[in-house]
Amino acid sequence: MPNTDPRQILVTSALPYANGAIHLGHLLEYIQTDIWVRFQKSRGHECHYVCADDAHGTAIMLRAEQEGISPEALIDRVSQDHQADFARFGVGFDNYHSTHSEENRYFSELIYTRLRDKGHIATRDIEQMYDPQKGLFLADRFIKGTCPKCHTADQYGDNCEACGATYTPAELIDPVSAISGATPEVRSSTHYFFKLPDFADFMHEWIHDGHVQPQIRNKLQEWFDSGFNEWDISRDAPYFGFEIPDAPGKYFYVWLDAPIGYLASFKNLCERQGLDFDAYWRRDSSAEVYHFIGKDIVYFHALFWPAMLHGAEFRTPTAVNCHGFVTVNGAKMSKSRGTFIKAATFAEHLNPEYLRYYFAAKLTPGVDDLDLNLEDFAQRVNSDLVGKVVNIASRCAGFIRKLGNGQLATQCVEPALLQRFIDAGEEIAAHYETREFGRAMRRIMELADDANTYIAEAEPWVVAKQEGREQDVLDICTVGIQLFHQLMVYLAPVVPSMAQDAQRFLQLDSLDWQSRTHGLEGHTIAKFKPLMTRVETDRIDAMIESSKEDLVEEQKLKDSAKGPLANNPIADEISFDDFAGVDLRIARIAKAEYVEGADKLLKLTLDLGGETRNVFAGIRKAYAPEALEGHLTVMVANLAPRKMRFGVSEGMVLAAGDDEGIYLLEPHSGAKPGQRVS
Ligand code: 2FM
Ligand code: ZN
Repeated sequence: MPNTDPRQILVTSALPYANGAIHLGHLLEYIQTDIWVRFQKSRGHECHYVCADDAHGTAIMLRAEQEGISPEALIDRVSQDHQADFARFGVGFDNYHSTHSEENRYFSELIYTRLRDKGHIATRDIEQMYDPQKGLFLADRFIKGTCPKCHTADQYGDNCEACGATYTPAELIDPVSAISGATPEVRSSTHYFFKLPDFADFMHEWIHDGHVQPQIRNKLQEWFDSGFNEWDISRDAPYFGFEIPDAPGKYFYVWLDAPIGYLASFKNLCERQGLDFDAYWRRDSSAEVYHFIGKDIVYFHALFWPAMLHGAEFRTPTAVNCHGFVTVNGAKMSKSRGTFIKAATFAEHLNPEYLRYYFAAKLTPGVDDLDLNLEDFAQRVNSDLVGKVVNIASRCAGFIRKLGNGQLATQCVEPALLQRFIDAGEEIAAHYETREFGRAMRRIMELADDANTYIAEAEPWVVAKQEGREQDVLDICTVGIQLFHQLMVYLAPVVPSMAQDAQRFLQLDSLDWQSRTHGLEGHTIAKFKPLMTRVETDRIDAMIESSKEDLVEEQKLKDSAKGPLANNPIADEISFDDFAGVDLRIARIAKAEYVEGADKLLKLTLDLGGETRNVFAGIRKAYAPEALEGHLTVMVANLAPRKMRFGVSEGMVLAAGDDEGIYLLEPHSGAKPGQRVS
């Protein structure tokens, strides 16, 4: 039945910051959202999917400064890169905008002034760290110092990575600005606050009203129970953002205007396409609005944002759909392991639709993390998409061409089987609707198994060898193609590019949900071209290697951008604790090798008494590898791993040296590998 009741649906994904590349972690969200949106469109609903770059804030301002360009030039470039990445992965936004836009300025001012005029904005003076050299107030993450509790040096802002202590930046021992290296001062300035407590009852009701998943509701309730404060929504100049009306030198905090970017992007779309913005955003709107986000930004979306909208007389979201994080091979994405994979790097080596399918196969409506296990990934894509789905078409297409000249039989000889596939569409649709994509994929693959079983049992290749049975072969293969058609309708939201190729092969105007009920009897199909090739594991390995290379490039950029502290690596004086934090160990050189293509390096395999480390040392001109093997030396064992062109260096050996020579340190005899040096 045609859908007589189209819903009006607006969907968003979180706005990526305009200072970094899209990576696998981001992609989970955009792919999840895009699949849901494509599904809604396939069902015939009016569905708009908008996004934008999150372009404001100190980080972007500083990044532009480091690169010696204007923030506008930076956000322009990054926006192009982001959009290219999204296009590669088939993420089909209806509009991609920027929070640094006139629409966003308009709505930010509108929402702010409405809140202010109703008494929901307060001002008061607060004290904050200030970098006198840069003339900048410093957010916590831009202050570094020694942990007041465990005395570990070089800890950021408000918590210690070593002992987990939390504190205020003012409590850090010897704090420095991470931007300039200057000692920060405490200064006072006036800030603007959104009076969240005014909305306590509203927010409480909202989070218990089915707008968030149960796990998220519980989390929010905990936060609620511990009480909450007014929200600081202003930042002092210099700041890349919008100035607050009637408050010269004060800017909206990036997180104030970021979600407003959803409105701005949609408004921009409405202007271009003549859509009715208010029909979606007025208080009594019957349209649906969904935000897809990661669980790390739930407070902003499920508390602050509904409160802002409500206070400013807009409708609130129908639902905020949270997802978990991506892990790779069971661990957090890691730059040195090469599992921090950028979208562009993935697409260089592998078909993006492999990832779309794999994510879909593992996605649930919950907030658990999703593991990309690379072995399972290859196996699953190969066995499901290539082995099951594409296989159906490739087994049948040749016979249809040869025996029917591309034309399918004029009747379906297995109407019940075909009907079963069509009927399954309602169950699959229900899974898509509730974001049970894993279930939907499992159901589709069960059908694919059934289709393959049918073909395997009917054995068209055997029948084809029997005289006068051409029509039987055509009949069997027609059923096969009809079943394949059903599967492609169901998979199209997940693998849109493959679906497009399948649509071309089937010579159909549409693969939308409704189209599956149109029989293909007597229909002519095109020549079959392989719709998807197998995942090759060497491409996966190459992608991991490239991701390690990405890290080298990034490191170079960081090194060239570091402040004066980095240019002056030897400090005048360090504390005993600083020194004690260096883990010096006796190491036995188990193996030493030349490194092809590196005229200064030797690769050392170091034995730390049970543990082995690879270290690249710039000592080639002083030592032949065989002269080193078996010797003891001293290494820094807790140096962060560093990816070099030739591999990862997991520490550093100590050597004296100048232009005239290099001399590796060696302990007196009796020292044992692994022994601590102090
Ligand atoms: O966490 C982030 O990456 C933010 N840039 C997301 C913003 S979403 C919305 F509020 F704009
Ligand atoms: Zn500490």
